Amino acid sequence: MSEKEAALSSHVVVFLLFLIFVAGRGITGLDEKEVVVKLKHFLQSNNPIYYGRYAGWNESDPSPCWWSGVTCNDDGLVTGIDLSNSSISGTMFVGFSNLTELEHLDLSENTIEGGLPPDLNECGGLRYLNLSHNLLDGEVNLTGLVNLRVVDLTSNRFEGEIRANFPAMCANLVLLNISANNLAGEIAGSFDECPNLQYLDLSTNKFTGEIWKGFAKLREFSVAENNLTGEILLETFPSNCALEFLDLSSNNLVGDLPDSIANCSNLAFLNLWNNRLAGAIPAGIGELSKLRSLFLGSNGFDRKIPEKLLNCKELVFLDLSKNNFGGEIQGIFGRFVTLRLLSLHENGYIGGIESSGVLKLPELFRLDLSCNNFSGDLPVEIAAMPKIKYLMLAYNDFSGSIPSEFGSIVGLQALDLSYNRLTGRIPPELGKLRSLLWLMLANNRLSGEIPPEIGNCSSLLWVNLVGNRISGRIPREITRMGRDPNPTFQANRREIIVAGSDNCLSMKQWLPMKYQDLSFINTVLTPKLCQAIWNKIWKGYGIIPICMDSTSQVRTLTISGYMQLTENLLSGEVPPEIGKMQFLSILHLGDNQLSGRLPAEIASLPLFDIDVSNNLFIGQIPSEISLLQCLSRLDLSTNNFSGELPTSLNHLSELNQFNVSYNPLLSGVVPATGQISTFGSDSFMGDPLISYSSYSFYNSYYPPPSSFDDSSVVRRGTSRRTVAFWIPFIVSFLVFGVASFVLCLRIRTPVFIVNRILTIENFVTRSGDHRS
Ligand SMILES: *[C@@H]1O[C@H](CO)[C@@H](O)[C@H](O)[C@H]1NC(C)=O
Ligand SMILES: *[C@@H]1O[C@H](CO)[C@@H](O)[C@H](O)[C@H]1NC(C)=O
Ligand SMILES: *[C@@H]1O[C@H](CO)[C@@H](O)[C@H](O)[C@H]1NC(C)=O
Ligand SMILES: *[C@@H]1O[C@H](CO)[C@@H](O)[C@H](O)[C@H]1NC(C)=O
Ligand SMILES: *[C@@H]1O[C@H](CO)[C@@H](O)[C@H](O)[C@H]1NC(C)=O
Ligand SMILES: *[C@@H]1O[C@H](CO)[C@@H](O)[C@H](O)[C@H]1NC(C)=O
Ligand SMILES: *[C@@H]1O[C@H](CO)[C@@H](O)[C@H](O)[C@H]1NC(C)=O
Ligand SMILES: *[C@@H]1O[C@H](CO)[C@@H](O)[C@H](O)[C@H]1NC(C)=O
Ligand SMILES: *[C@@H]1O[C@H](CO)[C@@H](O)[C@H](O)[C@H]1NC(C)=O
Ligand SMILES: *[C@@H]1O[C@H](CO)[C@@H](O)[C@H](O)[C@H]1NC(C)=O
Ligand SMILES: *[C@@H]1O[C@H](CO)[C@@H](O)[C@H](O)[C@H]1NC(C)=O
Ligand SMILES: *[C@@H]1O[C@H](CO)[C@@H](O)[C@H](O)[C@H]1NC(C)=O
Repeated sequence: MSEKEAALSSHVVVFLLFLIFVAGRGITGLDEKEVVVKLKHFLQSNNPIYYGRYAGWNESDPSPCWWSGVTCNDDGLVTGIDLSNSSISGTMFVGFSNLTELEHLDLSENTIEGGLPPDLNECGGLRYLNLSHNLLDGEVNLTGLVNLRVVDLTSNRFEGEIRANFPAMCANLVLLNISANNLAGEIAGSFDECPNLQYLDLSTNKFTGEIWKGFAKLREFSVAENNLTGEILLETFPSNCALEFLDLSSNNLVGDLPDSIANCSNLAFLNLWNNRLAGAIPAGIGELSKLRSLFLGSNGFDRKIPEKLLNCKELVFLDLSKNNFGGEIQGIFGRFVTLRLLSLHENGYIGGIESSGVLKLPELFRLDLSCNNFSGDLPVEIAAMPKIKYLMLAYNDFSGSIPSEFGSIVGLQALDLSYNRLTGRIPPELGKLRSLLWLMLANNRLSGEIPPEIGNCSSLLWVNLVGNRISGRIPREITRMGRDPNPTFQANRREIIVAGSDNCLSMKQWLPMKYQDLSFINTVLTPKLCQAIWNKIWKGYGIIPICMDSTSQVRTLTISGYMQLTENLLSGEVPPEIGKMQFLSILHLGDNQLSGRLPAEIASLPLFDIDVSNNLFIGQIPSEISLLQCLSRLDLSTNNFSGELPTSLNHLSELNQFNVSYNPLLSGVVPATGQISTFGSDSFMGDPLISYSSYSFYNSYYPPPSSFDDSSVVRRGTSRRTVAFWIPFIVSFLVFGVASFVLCLRIRTPVFIVNRILTIENFVTRSGDHRS
């Protein structure tokens, strides 16, 4: 072979190699497209109603690389799939492992269910995996994914142990978030061999055993809401402690908090709420110069607050609630001048507040002293607190009248003075509170009339005056309250509302009195959940999907207000102007002496709960009520309604509680079918003029003959009714909490129900998204 020929043939070889290379790329590219197209078809078949952005993937394109949510490398191979919040339902796609270069997979915020597909564990190149906020279940086995840096499985239904995944998954792992699942077993030791781990969130699961001792090398660690036991040892916080964020709240940790916490000099957030820690509060905390939030509530710490804590110059949130301190409030609290939130509820304090100086803290915007034994007059000094927004003084022993000076707290948004021994009338000056959203004066001894000036409170959406001696008419002017809360909500949206552990307590105060029978739900309110809901409602985001327009069933997530005036001495007629209270969803006027007709104007409100029982209402039941498509509770019992029971009420398909008992002049026939027919005779007691159509009568009084007993049908019917019954209440519970007599008792949260509720919250949020 000549030199020339040799050179030529080498060129040919290079050219051939080039061809093979190009062809090879071409073939691989095609394969990849095939996989992504298969993914598209799979997703479309799983959710034929709502398509995500994958629906726009044009199958005529030669390569998937320009498709929205798909990213490729220079060689045209798929490296990333991002289909977060894309209306994906059904099980997870099998075949991601065919995308050989896949590094980034984000399927978060969908409703994917079932287990993880086994081939996922073959995607060895994955660096980022986000499956958070889905309905995935089964065990987690990602042992094959040795390149993972970020894993987010938050808010699914994964169960079983996770230990077996480590250290296989560990080498590169920086962030692991498996919060809000049903994972169990021990965690101690699991992460010892994860050299790069910095953010670890194991909160809201069922982990047991001792705490993992190596957590101080992380920047963020949370195991909140699990069932860890044992002590936090001195060695836990070594001199190289890197922690910035530590949340061990709601576990069963015992013993002292070691003073070595002083080694964690970057710590900004420390939450030990709701454990069984005891002994002295370590002075070492005072060396944490960056500390902003300190939650030590619901433990058994000593009463003495170390002076050194005053060195925390950045401290803005301090929670020392539920430690049974007793005696007069410790004077030192008046010296934490940087505080914005101070929570000292349920400590058994006695005496007054003024001497402590807390009312002089210049930055304080949230003060919670509920559930103590403070007594004497309400301090007028409160009116001079420059920044106070949320003032919670419920469940104390305060007496005397509400100082008229409270009307000059311009920024006040929540005022809870319920369950005290307050007397006198509601000061008209409160009408000057334009930012007030929530006024809670229930269960005092207030008398006099409702001042019409309250109608000037243009933000006021939630009013509870239950259980007082308030008399006179319901002034027409107060229907103007809450007419425009938006300026207040807008201002709140511009702020971060970091809230304390006391949100649950506040929320439990919220629900209408009549829901006491739901007090069991009390126990499932976790601080995290309360905070999430609290933040939403305080910024004006609704949680309950309600019918805004009484003529259609269109629902929106609009904030729902209430007016609770039950158990007072109110008389006269309900002003028809009530029809202008555009946000009113719950109207409770029971146990008063209200008379006249029930104004038909209420039918233009977004009401889902009406209780006017035990009054002196006369006349027809307004048939317009049947326009309230979202109405789930209607109690008109023990009044003097007359005339025909409007048959149109039968269209209220969501009505779950209905009572027209003891209206002796009420006549009519209970229909044989439709919604009203589903209520038993105890909804019509003491109504001699009401008769039953024969079928319905038969149903209510005689058990069905056994030959008709198709138990599956019966069971299905019952459970549907039960579910239908509970959903609005669980939902409203989520918004309002439960006003309950067990409020000040120490309740430990049964963690096993938490996930169910979180799921419900998910559901609520999601279904709302779809509807709005
Ligand atoms: C898909 O791509 C083909 C060829 O590139 C083009 O002709 C067609 O209009 C595109 N379809 C859509 C819906 O964009
Ligand atoms: C999900 O997408 C919808 C619109 O498709 C949007 O309104 C919603 O805010 C998104 N949710 C999240 C959490 O991004
Ligand atoms: C992808 O992977 C699955 C299982 O791992 C396999 O059955 C299939 O043939 C592969 N190819 C495509 C194009 O999906
Ligand atoms: C995972 O996705 C959720 C929702 O899209 C997002 O909020 C979260 O930040 C993501 N997690 C990580 C670790 O990136
Ligand atoms: C995890 O999956 C791998 C195969 O992908 C298997 O070999 C291993 O036994 C599994 N581990 C557990 C704990 O199930
Ligand atoms: C884990 O997810 C939860 C819920 O999305 C979030 O609040 C938390 O900040 C996340 N933790 C980390 C370490 O990213
Ligand atoms: C938590 O652990 C303790 C002791 O191990 C046990 O008695 C208790 O029942 C557990 N609680 C829950 C809710 O699992
Ligand atoms: C810091 O940690 C070391 C152990 O590494 C411990 O001996 C020391 O007491 C700690 N410092 C403080 C101030 O507690
Ligand atoms: C308040 O004092 C009474 C008796 O004076 C006592 O029964 C009650 O338990 C105390 N309440 C609190 C919250 O400490
Ligand atoms: C407040 O309400 C009263 C009575 O309703 C009314 O007369 C007065 O003008 C209102 N004041 C302001 C400043 O709006
Ligand atoms: C009930 O209303 C009727 C008129 O409709 C009236 O005659 C009667 O006295 C009322 N009964 C009571 C107890 O108020
Ligand atoms: C209806 O009200 C009456 C009187 O308050 C009460 O006795 C009865 O139990 C109620 N019925 C239902 C179904 O709640």
